Amino acid sequence: MTQADLDDPAALAAADPWGMLAAVAGAGAQARAAGALAEQAALVGPMPDTVVVAGMGGSGVAGDALAALAFAESTAPVVTVKGDRLPAFVGPGTLLVAVSYSGNTDETLSAVEQGLKAGARLVAVASGGRLAELAKDRSAPLVLVEGGSQPRAAFWSLVVPVLSAAEAAGVLRPLRSQVAAAADALDADAAELGPAVPTAANPAKQAALRLAGKLPVVWGTGQLGVVAATRFRTQCNENAKVSVVSAAVPEADHNDVMGLEPGLGPGRELVLLRDPPGEHQRDGLRLAAVREALGADPIVRQSGDAVPLARLARLVAFADFTSTYLGIARGVDPSTIATIDRVKAALAAGAREVNSPGAGGAPPPGAGGAPRLGAGGAVRPGAGGGPPPGAGTAVRPGAGGGPPPGAGEARRGEGLGARP
Ligand code: F6R
Repeated sequence: MTQADLDDPAALAAADPWGMLAAVAGAGAQARAAGALAEQAALVGPMPDTVVVAGMGGSGVAGDALAALAFAESTAPVVTVKGDRLPAFVGPGTLLVAVSYSGNTDETLSAVEQGLKAGARLVAVASGGRLAELAKDRSAPLVLVEGGSQPRAAFWSLVVPVLSAAEAAGVLRPLRSQVAAAADALDADAAELGPAVPTAANPAKQAALRLAGKLPVVWGTGQLGVVAATRFRTQCNENAKVSVVSAAVPEADHNDVMGLEPGLGPGRELVLLRDPPGEHQRDGLRLAAVREALGADPIVRQSGDAVPLARLARLVAFADFTSTYLGIARGVDPSTIATIDRVKAALAAGAREVNSPGAGGAPPPGAGGAPRLGAGGAVRPGAGGGPPPGAGTAVRPGAGGGPPPGAGEARRGEGLGARP
């Protein structure tokens, strides 16, 4: 695909059959809807001693966003967990926010099981699945978000309730005006970076074309820039199917920078996602020294000077648009994630084997490390990921129904209940 194709609406539609660009362009509306939903949720205090957010992939990044915002204002430490195991400090004083778009992600469910045993206070954010059932069973607060998208395309539907849970517990200051400002920033970015804006005037299309065929090396500044750098990496992984390196400034100056020696060369591009209000006063100098040493001319995106959530929104929008254009420029469908689907399906099949009597019986009660998605006959190919095989004729998301890529499938795990 060439530059002309990124500017050709028909070519874009053909290259993006599941509508990832439309989902990204709708992020502002998504944030507003999420704000309204979270305000109706029964989220309460008290102020916890510690906060842990458990979640994976496109859901788990919501924990990164909370940790970054809490960094400057919370007296309680906020830790994100992207795996099955929780830290030893988790106990009755812990607010455990579990976030899984499908509600059936193995690792997140393991973490919740462990947290509940340790007496942690659970808040769940999911579109359904086992996590939603578990929250209902335990009478734990549940924010039930709308299903039918790719988890990573539901970023704001997930981030806003995770932040709201922290706000209700007294960890974050009132958020309402920040969510409104973030939604406005997302609308403004869609107007600047969206598919209708030609490449000549569109920094995200320009960045995607520069990154095509290169290894993107993405650095973030400040707490928010680092979250955005992670988001840029994972969005390029899933939307564009490429490997990316991401790192944090100033730590990158002490190690990652060596990977760029002697200069970027033909194979790499440096992307700087800068959050000036969150930077240390010497970060500008640090970056200038790197540019000088490498002779590099990086792709730079700045967050502006609005409230923190709006600044994060600006950097995330750039990551989301750029990665989607990069996928299209590479000729891959931005929405589908076949290998993630295969890995999840293999895990689910393994769990079925472990849990079926002929295969040696169910795992012992409380066997923390056992695969648990027997509950996830759930996670079939296409579940939690792209459209199911052969769904080519299906109605696209956002086009009034049809099989959602991922979440709809994941919901089928509900009630299969191999879990205690
Ligand atoms: C898919 C995506 C994945 C999922 C991850 C966890 O769009 O972003 O990274 O988010 O596999 O699944 P969920 O979000 O359902 O818990």
